[in-house]
Amino acid sequence: EKNKKLIAGNWKMNGVQAALKEIEQIAAKVGDYADKGTFLICPPATLLAGARAVAGDALHIGAQDCHSATSGAFTGDISAQMIADLGGSFVIVGHSERREGHNESNEAVKAKAEAALEQGIKPIICCGETLEQREKGEAIGFVTQQIADSTPDRLSKDGEIAIAYEPIWAIGTGKTASADDVAEMHMALRKTLVDKFGDRGHTIEILYGGSVKPENANTLLHTQDVDGALVGGASLKAESFLGIVAAL
Ligand code: G3H
Repeated sequence: EKNKKLIAGNWKMNGVQAALKEIEQIAAKVGDYADKGTFLICPPATLLAGARAVAGDALHIGAQDCHSATSGAFTGDISAQMIADLGGSFVIVGHSERREGHNESNEAVKAKAEAALEQGIKPIICCGETLEQREKGEAIGFVTQQIADSTPDRLSKDGEIAIAYEPIWAIGTGKTASADDVAEMHMALRKTLVDKFGDRGHTIEILYGGSVKPENANTLLHTQDVDGALVGGASLKAESFLGIVAAL
């Protein structure tokens, strides 16, 4: 486990400019926890510049997806270079909502992660199984294969990427995986990362995501091999995001 946990908020398609006040409030407080964590909010792309302007030094700003190319004829997409240009330092790639809703394959996710690295942006590469896969006992095999295939071939420094394990059935449902199931999956993911990257695999943060809230954050964040959290709904309000941060 790392000395510092990564607490990341994914706003998904939520928030107009008035919501920047939540980011301002988060930024004003997370500095108090700087020795315990790294903090990140990923608002919609429309709010990246506004968020960066109010986020200060203690809070990172990131995007929720990027294209694998730097620029070109890709209507509606944004590139990692554009995110970096606005001061974004992270990008979520391969979220299950992108994999499902936009047919993103492991290969496509890997290309996006590599594009982020080229721009000096840290990708948070997501994985997770469906309820059906879990019930059939296929979760570990499926998720570890996703990560083996969705991560870049090479890393040039420690901690250059992060992973987020998000069981699909736990996203936005109020259900979380049990601490034992999370620990088992994170251990399997660690082995996958060390098999692929050698010792450097130990320096990659493995986050848990799926209905993380102030009430369950303490247990989840202190589960074996959990290096942080990727928070959806509870990241939209400063009070609940800071409630999770306070559980560190
Ligand atoms: O990226 C965040 C996850 O999909 C979790 O969302 O906290 O609303 O369940 P949630």
